[in-house]
Amino acid sequence: MSKINIAIDGFSSCGKGTLAKYMAQQLGYQFIDSGAMYRGITLRVLEREIDINDHEAITAMAAELEFEFKINHGNGRFELYLNEENVEGKIRNLHVSNSVSEVAAISGVRRQLVLAQQAIGQNKGVVMDGRDIGTVVFPDAELKIFMTAKPEVRALRRFEELNSAGHEVNMDEVLANLKKRDHIDTHREDSPLYLADYYKVLDNSDLTREEQNSIAMRWVRETLKKS
Ligand code: CDP
Repeated sequence: MSKINIAIDGFSSCGKGTLAKYMAQQLGYQFIDSGAMYRGITLRVLEREIDINDHEAITAMAAELEFEFKINHGNGRFELYLNEENVEGKIRNLHVSNSVSEVAAISGVRRQLVLAQQAIGQNKGVVMDGRDIGTVVFPDAELKIFMTAKPEVRALRRFEELNSAGHEVNMDEVLANLKKRDHIDTHREDSPLYLADYYKVLDNSDLTREEQNSIAMRWVRETLKKS
């Protein structure tokens, strides 16, 4: 059967990665978390103490980075390497989350990452999650899903995720971060998060993981029949 690309976009912390990983496993596809790449650049900006307003310096620094996703056979996840360093454990904290949307709004950064993401998807068989995957990265993706959930539900999920990974955070700061990122991500000039009419919308506020997975896999079967 011919392979398709699947784009999953949506707000912060609504479970895009969990769904994308499940779908990729079911289909034998590659799962790519495009947000990890924006987080990777942000990590380097913070480590090198580059001024967040110096777009030229950030764009030039990003051009020196080599992005690679390698599978971790322990958990089946594709993990991000920056110039051969596995940065997976360093990019998910609130420190990075607090600056990532500013970095992701820089056009020079987006141009480079979109090209890298398109190269990964050129042979199809990719499930990629992010903010602009259906609108900009893979406008020809056969299936485009827009995920959403109530802010309180999303904040609780992210709070639990961060705590179980050993990060000491409180609900207020997690919720504030989600709201801030959603605002920047939907209002930026360059490829904002936007619910175009071709998306299939999945609001998982009141769905179990199994219900969500089965809806998404039904969409996949319908799409594969047509393609
Ligand atoms: O926390 P969550 O998993 O929802 O976010 P993420 O997917 O790790 O993305 C982190 C940030 O990167 C987002 O808030 C966006 O600012 C940016 N991003 C983007 O602009 N475009 C993408 N395709 C993916 C992420």
